Amino acid sequence: MAKKQIVQFPKRFLWGASISAHQAEGGTDNQWNAWELENAKSSAAQAQYKDEHMPLWDEIRHTAKQPENYISADASDHKNRFEEDFSLLELLNMNAFRFSIEWSRIEPQEGTWDTEAVQYYREYFEALSRRGIEPVVTLLHFTLPVWFVEKGGFEKRSNVKYFLRYVEKIANEYSKYLRYIITINEPEVYAHESYMAGSWPPQRQSKWLGWRVLHHQLHAHRKAAKLLHQANRRFRVSIAKNSSYCYPGDDAILSRMSAAVYQYLTDDYTLRRVYKSCDFIGVNYYFSNRFYGYRIHNPEKRVSDLDWALEPENLQYVLERLSRKYKKPLLITENGLADQNDEQRKWWIGKTIVAMQGAIEEGVRLEGYLHWSLLDNFEWAYGHWPKFGLVAVDRKDFSRTIRPSAIWFGAIIKGIRSKGQRT
Ligand code: BGC
Repeated sequence: MAKKQIVQFPKRFLWGASISAHQAEGGTDNQWNAWELENAKSSAAQAQYKDEHMPLWDEIRHTAKQPENYISADASDHKNRFEEDFSLLELLNMNAFRFSIEWSRIEPQEGTWDTEAVQYYREYFEALSRRGIEPVVTLLHFTLPVWFVEKGGFEKRSNVKYFLRYVEKIANEYSKYLRYIITINEPEVYAHESYMAGSWPPQRQSKWLGWRVLHHQLHAHRKAAKLLHQANRRFRVSIAKNSSYCYPGDDAILSRMSAAVYQYLTDDYTLRRVYKSCDFIGVNYYFSNRFYGYRIHNPEKRVSDLDWALEPENLQYVLERLSRKYKKPLLITENGLADQNDEQRKWWIGKTIVAMQGAIEEGVRLEGYLHWSLLDNFEWAYGHWPKFGLVAVDRKDFSRTIRPSAIWFGAIIKGIRSKGQRT
């Protein structure tokens, strides 16, 4: 019997991890910081009612009921420890790192650039470049300067010019370090959580406003992509798109239709409007949605600490669908799970690697995999308790401990890279 050909990862495949500024740096000053201080008490008071169904409720209840859980404060103290954190990437044999630049640090007041912050990120880029680690830079990851919000943020199309001025500044300052650029992280998630569901600042619950904010962000992305391409043809630009896999749980017409409509609304509605301006598509994959009739129900036994159904193998179908539809190379910009006891991460990553191989075998041009997250960090409205890190961060002294699954993953990456990306 002929031996099955081993699937090779492309030679320059990026193996790495992701974070975002607000979630990891600490000491930020944006619309989230203000909101966290105002809402911490009520979030703590509502924790039992909101999160009691979480699988680890007994372990997390104490933390979830403390107001401090909901205040990012020093986050993972990455701002002061980035050198140490980049050494962790090296230890894990990674060659890429996704992070975001905090707009509110670069431009704390309208039109005023903070020279120290500009210098800070220059040193940050330098530290990555010394280690031969490819930066994947996000320009906007959910957080906005307060002055921009006061002008109406992305509710107003005319405010897009402020974002573009910031993008231009970044392109001018850091041109020599830049290649992969994510303009906006998950524009549809921001529009949904902040303007439709109302669970993030400014906590509006208006579908109409949500659609507006989404469209203005997509317009901002297209303009930013144009500006970046004009600034330097080397730049490779995309948004990071949260993409779930929607599928029918049975043969009923309603189940099939619901899955298709949901997939279209959550993926294609956004992607159709931006893919032409993208050199690749950044994909954030966390979960699948299985439809019975018009209801989503994933009865899998395995769930994460956030009660998300874990179906890592479906990443293959997500990649194949996006590749077929948009004919662009793909980069996995986020993928991971909240797993504080590190019981499922190794299994998840293993299945994910197989899913990526399957997709590559089917002709998907996959350029890399960036795990969410390098570090335990501040998980937005849930606060500090969900642990997404390959590396655990102690909440008191910020010491870092590499989780066993990460040590295993680091060895796998080493094996793949040393064999010229062969698995
Ligand atoms: C976001 C991250 C977040 C992760 C896990 C993604 O949607 O980009 O900021 O931490 O999901 O919830």
